[in-house]
Amino acid sequence: MATVHIGAEKGQIAETVLLPGDPLRAKFIAETFLTDVKPYNSIRGMLGFTGMYKGKRVSVQGSGMGMPSIGIYSHELIAQFGVKNLIRVGSCGALQADLNLGDVVIGMAACTNSAYMHQYELPGAYAPIASYELLANAVASAKELSVKVHVGNILSSDIFYDDNPDAWKKWQKMGVLAVEMEAAALYMNAARLGAKALTILTVSDSLVTHAQTTAEQREKTFTQMMQIALEIA
Ligand code: HPA
Repeated sequence: MATVHIGAEKGQIAETVLLPGDPLRAKFIAETFLTDVKPYNSIRGMLGFTGMYKGKRVSVQGSGMGMPSIGIYSHELIAQFGVKNLIRVGSCGALQADLNLGDVVIGMAACTNSAYMHQYELPGAYAPIASYELLANAVASAKELSVKVHVGNILSSDIFYDDNPDAWKKWQKMGVLAVEMEAAALYMNAARLGAKALTILTVSDSLVTHAQTTAEQREKTFTQMMQIALEIA
């Protein structure tokens, strides 16, 4: 059953999978928040684990950085392992002045500068969007946890070190909240293959103010994002 990139057996991966970019973060999430944890993948060091959270079976799979990488893992999870719900948990750079370090952002839709959608040969531009059900549940769960969230458009960029340092300002003018590098491909794979997807992010830096989070801030806000994701799992 193992696929090219995921060395698991059928049934070892839960129907709901959390996807942090960093595989060591996947390990940390599994060890910190789940019980009865079983590792199922270490191919290319892209660790995956399945465990229990409040009676629900949940997996956590590293996605790697960027759309080619999350495109591979999400495709195999859905098409080969029957995964139904994919929730990316990651960090982002703020594009708006009213987003503070540590704020939680939920990607209702994801703009992109990537060519990923060209494979579908559409006669126009596709709008990659989150699952409304997962989005509504995440907003409700954030409210219950008293965590303020910003819900809106995000940018999935292929470029971290842009040759034009002001390129992001055009997305800012369109009201895009934050930049990351994976959500658009995740949303397109989910749409094409019939699964539900959502992206929950915490602001780790700001392109507006050049502020960056401290390790301590990251720890605290990361926990809030994880609670929202696990409650809707
Ligand atoms: N750009 C892209 N991805 C990111 C950033 C950023 O500034 N911060 C966190 N993820």
